Amino acid sequence: PLSAMEQEDAIRQELGSLHGIPFYKSFIEGWPQVKAFQARPDDLLISTYPKSGTTWLSEIMDMIYHNGDVEKCRRDAIYNRVPFLELKAPKCLSGVEQLENTPSPRLVKTHLPVQLLPTSFWEKDCKIIYMARNPKDVVISYYYFHQMAKIHHDPGTKAEFLEKFMAGKVPYGSWYDHVRGWWEKKQEKKILYLFYEDMKKDPRQEVQKILQFLGKELAEGTVERILHHTSFQEMKKNPAANYETMLPTLMDHSISPFLRKGISGDWKNHFTVAQNERFDQHYQELMAGSDLHFQME
Ligand code: A3P
Repeated sequence: PLSAMEQEDAIRQELGSLHGIPFYKSFIEGWPQVKAFQARPDDLLISTYPKSGTTWLSEIMDMIYHNGDVEKCRRDAIYNRVPFLELKAPKCLSGVEQLENTPSPRLVKTHLPVQLLPTSFWEKDCKIIYMARNPKDVVISYYYFHQMAKIHHDPGTKAEFLEKFMAGKVPYGSWYDHVRGWWEKKQEKKILYLFYEDMKKDPRQEVQKILQFLGKELAEGTVERILHHTSFQEMKKNPAANYETMLPTLMDHSISPFLRKGISGDWKNHFTVAQNERFDQHYQELMAGSDLHFQME
């Protein structure tokens, strides 16, 4: 058997590059299958940059798909209920394999930048929901995720990680390109573009937007149940939603829980004044000319 250190080495990955995007090497190995993925017309794609509320939106969507039936939504862990399209790792089913075994209508999770989405999603005209989160909270959340999710190397100091994030040298590349790319695609395709900060402020309104997008109606009591079940406190204690069922060799919740804080504006507890100024300036440069705006708290 491998020693603990050897196991760690086997899991931690150097980043490779996929069409210029920093990407986990094992995911690159599975790329041909992802690229050729056959979407079905009734697939619904949940797309996000990492740490933007993917799991939250996934739980909401599964609850909507099951008309607010809490027990049905405990049938399996969230990462199995909503398979992760580009996932590929040794000794487990790939995302594509998992999806092939999933009956329709499927919910599909991806973090791919828009230009890398397998073309069949466009050909089949699938519904897509994108959720974006302000970059300051994303980078802090990503920093703690690098520490607890063992696929990553040690992120170094916060200051070092901040530089890497701003330079797009993190898995899935530039946050700026990601949010802008999906935003622009919305001009021509069926994409509901949501914000984490809106969902925090008024989840009822955002769930109504989703229902409208789906052309679905739910009774007020059902919506109420969905909102309760998908609150941070409820999800944090729900083993089917909080990732605690992942192998401890893959995620160490004692370092930082997957459902860590679940608030907007936590970056204020982490950024120095100088870092914030630098970040703001860089943000202005990279977001110039876009009508995409973020609430930073
Ligand atoms: P924090 O690290 O800031 O707490 P993803 O699912 O895309 O990996 O995003 C994870 C982030 O979403 C984490 O942010 C996590 O706490 C937050 N999150 C998960 N479920 C949530 C919920 N029900 N309400 C608010 N935030 C939630």
